[in-house]
Amino acid sequence: MKKALIIHQSKKGHTRRYGEEIGKFLTGKGIESRVISLEEYNADLLQDVSHLFLGCWTGGLFFFAQHPDQAWIHTVKKMALPEGIQIGLFTTYLLATGSMFRAMKKYIPGKEGMPMPEWRSKNSLLSEADKESINKFIAG
Ligand SMILES: Cc1cc2nc3c(=O)[nH]c(=O)nc-3n(C[C@H](O)[C@H](O)[C@H](O)COP(=O)(O)O)c2cc1C
Repeated sequence: MKKALIIHQSKKGHTRRYGEEIGKFLTGKGIESRVISLEEYNADLLQDVSHLFLGCWTGGLFFFAQHPDQAWIHTVKKMALPEGIQIGLFTTYLLATGSMFRAMKKYIPGKEGMPMPEWRSKNSLLSEADKESINKFIAG
């Protein structure tokens, strides 16, 4: 049974909305999905999760040095991620995501080198390409 957990960290709501869009899309595909904020996260919520979507707003200097928020880093680096869990990353941004996904991956424990799809949006909506790539991810 596939089960998705979507965790977002959002200051102004864009990343939360993008996470909610992902959740809605997955629910529409018949996948059991839960969307939560980073603050709501606790380890029990990972129970039976096959696909984890980790989202954070893009912080940086607009042209370079993008990185996740400190609170995101703090929580994510302590996650006990089950073996076999599939992980995808998402963010919202204004200009460029630059090093954002690379920086996010650095803090995901025990999953070095694991391929993780990336989704980004300026308007919090899922593009057709996003939907296609989420479909592919969830099929795996
Ligand atoms: C301090 C700060 C730094 C930011 N740095 C970047 C950046 O480097 N690149 C970018 O494209 N957007 C940057 N942004 C814009 C946010 O990533 C964008 O508004 C995002 O959608 C906010 O998500 P949220 O509504 O979930 O908080 C920055 C915003 C703030 C407040």
